Amino acid sequence: MTTWLITGGAGYIGAHVVRALRESGRSVVVLDDLSTGHADRIPDDVPLAQVSVLDTPSVRDALREYAVDGVVHLAAKKAVGESVEQPLHYYRENVTGVISLLEAMRDEGVHNLVYSSSAAVYGEPPWSPIREETPCAPLSPYGETKLVGEWMIRAAASAQRLSWVALRYFNVAGAGAPELRDTSVNNLIPMVYAALERGVAPQVFGSDYPTPDGSCIRDYIHVSDLADAHVAAAAYCEANDAQDVFNVGTGEGASVWEVMAAVSEAVGHDIGAVAVARRTGDPPELVASADRIAGVLGWQARRDLAEMVSSARLD
Ligand code: WQD
Repeated sequence: MTTWLITGGAGYIGAHVVRALRESGRSVVVLDDLSTGHADRIPDDVPLAQVSVLDTPSVRDALREYAVDGVVHLAAKKAVGESVEQPLHYYRENVTGVISLLEAMRDEGVHNLVYSSSAAVYGEPPWSPIREETPCAPLSPYGETKLVGEWMIRAAASAQRLSWVALRYFNVAGAGAPELRDTSVNNLIPMVYAALERGVAPQVFGSDYPTPDGSCIRDYIHVSDLADAHVAAAAYCEANDAQDVFNVGTGEGASVWEVMAAVSEAVGHDIGAVAVARRTGDPPELVASADRIAGVLGWQARRDLAEMVSSARLD
């Protein structure tokens, strides 16, 4: 049995990855400073090293103490808008975080790494679906830090033995269990439920985009499917000398109006969404090509939009 350390394992995505890796028969350990994560998301029998990934000696200690074979690195800042206001904070946390982790892994001889990247590395490509070879042109400091992370891992891998996979997540949504829900209100589906909770109309940002119904199209991926992709990536790192980048999406787009309709269906009444002005910087369409991950890792999404919106419900 191998042991994997999950940085950011007390976060929304991390908590799902912890469970999926454990169910795959691996032993898991969480490293999280609990700055945004919640300790109660971590199962009682999973050890927690409550330290920052920037604290290299403590990361080294955790790798050694638990005889770690591989790391899933999720600990990072992830709000695009905030990254524009605090770019250096994002560079410090996300870029220095990867440096710190890679140094600790080198020093302790840990060779497997699954890295949490993002579709934000692509920026606004003029065509969909987006393939991994699509040139990267991030439009925010957040996206830049994720891309720099990929570059650093690739560079480090030729200097230290590293079997690595970077997963570029598209729009992650839903929950595997109510207690694992995304408690931040940064993204569309949590924002819709938050509006309903306050008794106000959910808003559709822009209805004059060049799309069939005029609203933006995204590739929404269920967090439990995403967690399964991490298990496939971890197994691939263990069995190969991997150096691979994969999109993680369904390969299917859904418009904001379609998401609103799915929420209406989930709650059993029309939620009365209203069209408002565009939000600055939103590309009309971002949909993954999921062919590469299906072909190489044998992974594909199994859960649909209805399951994402119903599992994200607050009540
Ligand atoms: C989705 C769609 C909005 C709220 C961002 C990052 C990306 C990734 C996921 C981290 C857009 C529309 C939203 C609302 C709306 N993050 N919308 N009404 O912008 O696609 O992606 O989060 O890795 O990198 O860029 O996600 O959930 O904010 O928006 O109409 O109240 O919903 O305009 O079209 P986005 P989102």
